Amino acid sequence: MIHEEIPDQDIRLRAPRPDEGGAIWEVARDTGTLDLNSSYLYMLLARDFADTCVVAEHQDRIVGFASGYRRPRHPEVLFLWQVGIRPALQGHGLGKRLVAAFLRQPGADRASLLETTISPDNEASRALFRAIARELETDCRVSPCFAAGDFPEPGHEAEELFTIGPYRPGALNRLIS
Ligand SMILES: CC(C)(COP(=O)(O)OP(=O)(O)OC[C@H]1O[C@@H](n2cnc3c(N)ncnc32)[C@H](O)[C@@H]1OP(=O)(O)O)[C@@H](O)C(=O)NCCC(=O)NCCS
Repeated sequence: MIHEEIPDQDIRLRAPRPDEGGAIWEVARDTGTLDLNSSYLYMLLARDFADTCVVAEHQDRIVGFASGYRRPRHPEVLFLWQVGIRPALQGHGLGKRLVAAFLRQPGADRASLLETTISPDNEASRALFRAIARELETDCRVSPCFAAGDFPEPGHEAEELFTIGPYRPGALNRLIS
């Protein structure tokens, strides 16, 4: 796999447009590790959840995304559902920039906790969220969420809940995006 280092300023982070769900689905597919959901679901995300989603654009192409929502019954919690980057661009800080931009989206206003779930063997993702907690100077707690046996399909890994926070809005200034 060829790894590319692209200057930060050449990658634009912004909310998805309503017609970009298909492009987000393609990035999720190309990571090879994300649970790939239906294209329809990513189209709904781009249309209805753009305030809590971010895409990374390079030369008119979507190269990464972070998707999520605010938990309806716990509005202080932002749930980050998936973050994915085209393989050639992984490992150069774009994951941290995407999560930082996600936390600054309009739909994240006044949230104080970040949640996500991660499988035990996803080292890159675990390192990413630990780095975010460290840079926000707050806690990162790991607790059980979904056991492997909770999933109807065989072979699905467990998903552990990472809870990062509480953080204050001012702490977001410590993150680069
Ligand atoms: C997970 C993912 C989004 C991380 O983004 P990234 O751009 O590669 O990560 P970054 O370069 O921003 O690195 C963030 C931190 O993770 C660490 N890291 C990155 N890749 C790593 C790896 N493969 N193994 C261990 N640590 C890793 C970095 O060193 C950095 O930590 P630091 O600040 O303490 O040095 C990206 O690897 C990806 O798209 N993976 C496939 C999809 C996926 O698994 N998504 C997560 C589940 S939703």
